[in-house]
Amino acid sequence: MAVLNVNIDHVATVRQARMTDEPDPVWAAAECELAGANGITIHLRQDRRHICDRDVRLLKETVACKLNLEMCMAEPIVKIAEEIKPDQVTLVPEKRAELTTEGGLDCAKYKRRLAEVVKRMHKKGILVSTFIAPDREQIIASAQTGCDAIELHTGMYANASPATLGSAKPADGGQRAINKRLSELECGRDLAMENKLVVHAGHGLTYRNIAGVARIKDLCEFNIGHSIIARAVFVGIRQATAEMIKLIDKYRIDDFRLSNADCQLKLQIANRKSKIEN
Ligand code: PXP
Repeated sequence: MAVLNVNIDHVATVRQARMTDEPDPVWAAAECELAGANGITIHLRQDRRHICDRDVRLLKETVACKLNLEMCMAEPIVKIAEEIKPDQVTLVPEKRAELTTEGGLDCAKYKRRLAEVVKRMHKKGILVSTFIAPDREQIIASAQTGCDAIELHTGMYANASPATLGSAKPADGGQRAINKRLSELECGRDLAMENKLVVHAGHGLTYRNIAGVARIKDLCEFNIGHSIIARAVFVGIRQATAEMIKLIDKYRIDDFRLSNADCQLKLQIANRKSKIEN
C-alpha cells in the first residue's frame, strides 16, 4: 500500500471561490481512495477559507482510509476534533494572513498546551502528529509531550529544488543545497525514531521533487496537496493521485522497514484503544 495522504483543501478552495456547493471535497476523497490513497488530509482553518465544519463531519462518515485532520491548537478547533474524532490530528501553527502553513509548530514553546491537547486527543482515541522542522528541540518536545508521530516539514527541501530556484539556480543545479536539506530530514528521522516517534513528511512536495524524499528510509506517510490538485485540473484527481503513488513506489527502497513503521503505528492504535477501554 502506498503511503500517500492526499490533502484535498484546494478542492474546497475552488468551491469557496464562488461560495457554492461544487466541487465537493467528499467526492474528491472518494476518488483519491479509488486511486489507492492511504489517507485523506484536510485542514480546518479558523477562518474556514476552504474546508468547513460540514466537510469534516461528512468526511469522517465517508472516508474509509485514514482521515488526518490538520489543525492549530485553538480551543474551538480542539473541541471540534474531540467531537468528530478523526483517526489522526496533525498539529500546525496558523496565521490568518498566510497563504499556506508557514514553518513548523513551536512544540518547545507551547509544550504545556501541546501536552494538554495530546492528552485530550488520546482520550478520544485520536493519534497525534506535530508538523515540525527537522529540529532537535522540536522533536524532543514532541516526544516528551506524548505525540505518536511527527510530520517533518519538507518546505526547505522543496524550496531548494531546481524548479523553484528559477534564474537563481547555482551551477550544480542546487544539488548541494538539496543534499543539505535531505540530510537534515534524515537526521530528524533518526532522532524521532530513537524517541519512538513515527515519521511523516510533507509540504511543497511535487511530482518533480518527490524522488529525493521518497528515497529516505522509514518515512511512513507523505501529505501532499497543491501539486496533486493542480494536476487534477487537467487529468482528474483519480489519475493525479495514482501518478503520485506510482512515483512514491518507484523511488521507495525500504518496503520492509516501511511496513515495520506501519506496524508500529498499528500497535500504537491498539495500545491506545486498550488504554481507553481500561
Ligand atoms: N503538511 C502540512 C502540515 C500542511 O500544512 C500542508 C499544506 O496544507 C501540506 C502538508 C501539504 O502541502 P502542499 O499543499 O504544499 O502539498
